[in-house]
This record gives sequence, C-alpha cells and structure tokens, in this order.
Amino acid sequence: MPLKATNSRRARLARIALVGSLVSPLFFVAACQSSPSIMNPASPSARIISDLGWQLFAVAAVVFVAVEAVLIYAVIRFRNKGSTEEPRQVYGHTRLEIVWTAAPGLVLIGVLYTMFQAMATLLPIPQDAMPVKVIGHQWWWEVEYPEHGIATANELHFPVGRPVRVDLQAADVIHSFWVSELGPKMDLLPEQVNSTWYKVERPGVYRGFCAEFCGVQHANMGFIVVAEEQGAFDAWVQAQRQPATAPADPLAQQGAQAFTTSGCAGCHAIAGTPAQARIGPNLSHVGSRRYIGANALANTPENMAAWITNPQEAKPGNLMPALPLDPERVRQLTAYLVGLK
Ligand code: CUA
Repeated sequence: MPLKATNSRRARLARIALVGSLVSPLFFVAACQSSPSIMNPASPSARIISDLGWQLFAVAAVVFVAVEAVLIYAVIRFRNKGSTEEPRQVYGHTRLEIVWTAAPGLVLIGVLYTMFQAMATLLPIPQDAMPVKVIGHQWWWEVEYPEHGIATANELHFPVGRPVRVDLQAADVIHSFWVSELGPKMDLLPEQVNSTWYKVERPGVYRGFCAEFCGVQHANMGFIVVAEEQGAFDAWVQAQRQPATAPADPLAQQGAQAFTTSGCAGCHAIAGTPAQARIGPNLSHVGSRRYIGANALANTPENMAAWITNPQEAKPGNLMPALPLDPERVRQLTAYLVGLK
C-alpha cells in the first residue's frame, strides 16, 4: 500500500477514535438520567446492588492501576538498550509464584464475601409486603393484584414507600423480570413461582424489560412500573376494579359489538362484557395504559388502529393474528378500545 494511503487511513482512524472518546461519556451521562438506568437506584434493594457494583469497580480499579504500573515500570526498566546478547532467562521463582497465586485468590474471596452479604440483605421479603402476581408470556406481562381483584397487563402500579412482593411465573418459556432502578433481576420459570420485593422511594415511571432471551420479540417484551403516592395508587386501584365503561358514542358502541363478533373476544377479556378469554392481555382498561404491545408502541388512536389492522407489522412473530377487518371495523374497534379508560 502506498505510504500516503496508509497515512490518510491512520488519520481517519485517529479521528474516529477521538470523536468516539468525546461522545461516549455523553451516552454514559444520558444513561444516568433516563429510565432504565443502573446508575439511579430508587429502592433500597437497587441501592445495595449499585453499592456492590461500585465496590467491585473500586477493587478492579486498584488492581488495574497496580498491574499496569508494574507492567510500565518493567517495560521501561528492562528495555533493550542496544545489546545484542540474549537477556538472562528467569523462571520458577517459588516465592513469587505463591504470592501471585494467593493475592488474586484473597481479592476474589473478599469480593465473594461482600456479594454474599448483599444477597443476604436482599433476600428476606417483608411480611407486610403487598402481593402482585406477574405471569410472563411470549411476549407480554400478565399482571394480577390478588388483594385488590385487579387484572391488567404490561403496566404495574406500586405505592411509594410500601414494600411490594412480586410473585413471578412463566406461561411458556423462561423470561426474566428486571426494573434496573428498583432491584434485582428475577427469572420467571414455567414450573415454579419466584418472588422478589421492591420498596420504591420516589414517584416516577420506571421502564422494565425481559432480561432473558425468550424468542424473536424478546426485545419488545417491555413493561412499566408507575410508582405513585398512596392516594394516587388507591385511585388507580378503584378505577381498575370497575367493569369496563359501556361506550356512549355510536362508533364505539359498534366497536363493542365488533369485539365479540370479529374474533377479538376469543383471546381477550373485558370485565363486565361476555369477553373473558385469557390468552392475550386483559383489555378492560386498555385505554388508560401508556403503551400497547408490551411497550412496543405509545397508546395513541393511530397506533391502536395500526396494531389492530396488522399486529405483525409492529411486532413480527407475536401471537396475535391479523384478522380480516375492513377499515370501518378497525375505526369502530379503535374508538371502543381507546375509550376503555
Ligand atoms: Cu421474555 Cu425475553
């Protein structure tokens, strides 16, 4: 390769590296502020995990600096100063071998101890925790509040300051429930209930997602946790306990009818109507949710209409079939569903 071409390629690589090193801290800062973030714990259990992460980072940093210092010293001190003789060969220094085997061993035992300590603090679930049942499906989250008689999907509400116990199980394959600001990841298994708990300290909307590969739409298996003060939480519970509102508007009334005649009721439930199937998400108050399709789309009339027309376009491979619906039917169903507040 001609020298000039090599130089310009080097210059280009140097420019990319420079821009990369300037821009990457911006991603880091952005990751600190918006949800999901591992840098911004909002519950005691998330803080224990975050503290543990920083402790491990500190230990790793000390080891890194020490090893690099010795390496750089050795490179400079023992560099070839022009001699052509083969350097003196050294190996098999017993005391040194023992030291550099024992030292990392001791560091790792120390790290393991702090990890066990963190786990022991995280595990016990408070007796007075409010139970919430979450069932993982390909690719959405079924949610039940047994104390309150609520069934919903993909949107959990937690009262701020009160411990919440989440009982997790899978309907099909293994999933994993993770809200990085709120606490540990926990797997959902088909044959066993796993429980974890959270106590949210600050109101907010926290994004959660599936953290175990579970099929083609694993990346679109999201949910949100809305943490709110007790009063707002109670109001939400009251609203969710009501049967679905009967539509007043004629278009939505036709939509309510179409829901049973067009096949939607074969998979979905709407409280207070004949639709009671549990194959897909419960839609009793779907209009009150912020997202549809397990956080794949914002809950707007346009997105709802697009989703009903062809669910396979927004989320290819999901288990909702595209029903043969004419545009008028879609308009009616959309009016009905977005009205279910
Ligand atoms: Cu469910 Cu990944």
